[in-house]
Amino acid sequence: MCGIFGIVTNEENLNIGNNVFEGIKRLEYRGYDSCGIVYIANKKLFVKKDSGKIDEIHKKLKLNEFPNGSKLALAHTRWATHGPPTKINSHPQLDCNNKIAVVHNGILENFFELKEELISKGHVFKSETDTEIIPHLIEENLNTHGNLKEAVVSAIKKCKGAFALAICHADYPDTIIVVRRESPLVLGIAKNTTYCASDIPAFLKYTRKCYILDDDELAILRPNSVEFFNIMSEKRIENKKLMTIDWNIGAAEKEGYDHFMLKEIYEEPMALRRTMKIPTESLKEFSESLINAEHIYITAAGTSFYASLAGKFIVTKFLGKYIEAIECSEFKTQLDNCLEDNSVIIAVSQSGETIDLIEPIRWAKKYNPSVKILSITNIVGSTLTRHSDQVLITQAGPEIGVAATKTYVSQVLTLALVALEIAKLRKKLSNEEIQKYYEALQSVPDIIENFLEKNVDLIKYIVKNLEKNLNFFFLARGASIATAKEGGLKLKEVACRFIEGYSAAHAKHGPISLVREGYPIIFIAPPDETYERLVGNVMEFKARGGKIISLVVESDVKITNLSDITIRIPQPEDKYHSLFSSITFIPALQLLAYYAALEHNLDPDKPLNLAKTVTVH
Ligand code: G6P
Repeated sequence: MCGIFGIVTNEENLNIGNNVFEGIKRLEYRGYDSCGIVYIANKKLFVKKDSGKIDEIHKKLKLNEFPNGSKLALAHTRWATHGPPTKINSHPQLDCNNKIAVVHNGILENFFELKEELISKGHVFKSETDTEIIPHLIEENLNTHGNLKEAVVSAIKKCKGAFALAICHADYPDTIIVVRRESPLVLGIAKNTTYCASDIPAFLKYTRKCYILDDDELAILRPNSVEFFNIMSEKRIENKKLMTIDWNIGAAEKEGYDHFMLKEIYEEPMALRRTMKIPTESLKEFSESLINAEHIYITAAGTSFYASLAGKFIVTKFLGKYIEAIECSEFKTQLDNCLEDNSVIIAVSQSGETIDLIEPIRWAKKYNPSVKILSITNIVGSTLTRHSDQVLITQAGPEIGVAATKTYVSQVLTLALVALEIAKLRKKLSNEEIQKYYEALQSVPDIIENFLEKNVDLIKYIVKNLEKNLNFFFLARGASIATAKEGGLKLKEVACRFIEGYSAAHAKHGPISLVREGYPIIFIAPPDETYERLVGNVMEFKARGGKIISLVVESDVKITNLSDITIRIPQPEDKYHSLFSSITFIPALQLLAYYAALEHNLDPDKPLNLAKTVTVH
């Protein structure tokens, strides 16, 4: 939520305006209510900001045009929390004398008290934001501390809550100070230029070398140096690890696709092939923890939660133990008083930063230190990884589209790899059986590739066909309920349609009352152990005039004969492939959501009111 980007340079030929504009554009998926940029030149701040999307503001204010001699800029794209998305509430926020500028991602919890205190000392506030207290606090401290770093440190020591902050002062045109607690912040190191950003793709075009800031760390950025300090102890941090990122910039560009969402759906085969290479040692360690645990929970938010539902289904097949899935925002409420010894929590998150997940994980560790946290995330060094005992990194590459697609399939695949590792370790299946499952799993990227090559026109036709139906159901049984729910979520997110994923068996206990002649129902129907019963459910809906659209495998006959339209997934009809249908069947629903968004003139990369990484409660 909210993106921050900063650059300080002494490179002669670098166009700082284009650079900061591109950087903040790459973070727009984090929030797009309003945006702002501040440059420093001649010991003055030059601020351009407004409400709206970045391109709209750019048309009016030419965000990339900078004052002569400027070598420093900070930028912000906002997802409003405190105060509506207006120009005045946009970041940067300044002090009384227009000397200090601050951009912020997070929420300051004690801002009311601090604001009152500052007002009583004569500070004048212009916005409704919590952020504005920071420049005023620093301004106040500078009266007593002369030194900018010390003024920042004492300001931060007063703040409670979550924040990633980038701060500059007009009198220090070669210095950015950044601070982090709970909200993500990374630094990029290039020749004569230092960057700060909410995430790596923002500066990936300029450098792959980066530092990841930890909680309660402060860094002083200059064109050729970075110094790190702990805010609480105020001690310098030596030997901070410089990392090299192996993503390439293409991964963060649209590369000819109209939208990131579409590009990322087409990247799924590649993401899966890479994720397939998770080191066996890590899988083994993860699997052994599950085998040895007495209680197992899996928790996540949004799409990652549905990936957890799909994945846990595959894992339990071989683990022989129940895994309780709980949405992370409910975890603490439900487990308070009963999180026992020998428990393992599997935490799944694309970003590794979702606060609704980080909070219960921290709580669980504190409540019962014997609890093990096993995480699955796409981001190396993310907050989640730092609270985990074991980590599996999905190799989906950067995902920019707000609606998660390639990370979803990578998460389910990772859990499927864990499942097969468990099958190996528990020796309940013959080697030959296990080998067949492995071969089926390895064929998943090809199946998806094949499907995406041939079915776009059919999906577009179905979208046109459904155009007038504002709501309908995705129905399924067993593991495919996760697919139905994730499909429904995608349509809600990007196409603003209330489409519900539901159990086909349970639909007769309520939802069936909506069915009239021509009412569409999409059945997810892989040939697994639930298939025969699903045939019965299809008939129930057909008997009431429902228009049946079904997702089936290529050789399917029974449900095909009952359907008005079928989407055929090119996968063999055997139990080995069927086990992984929650990976192979979802691209069809992702594409459906994508084209439905276009049909309704919506931008699938910027769904209303959503942000990709939610770092506020
Ligand atoms: C937000 C996003 C969703 C995402 C969820 C979990 O709600 O809009 O698309 O699935 O967060 O994010 P995570 O990074 O933890 O997977």
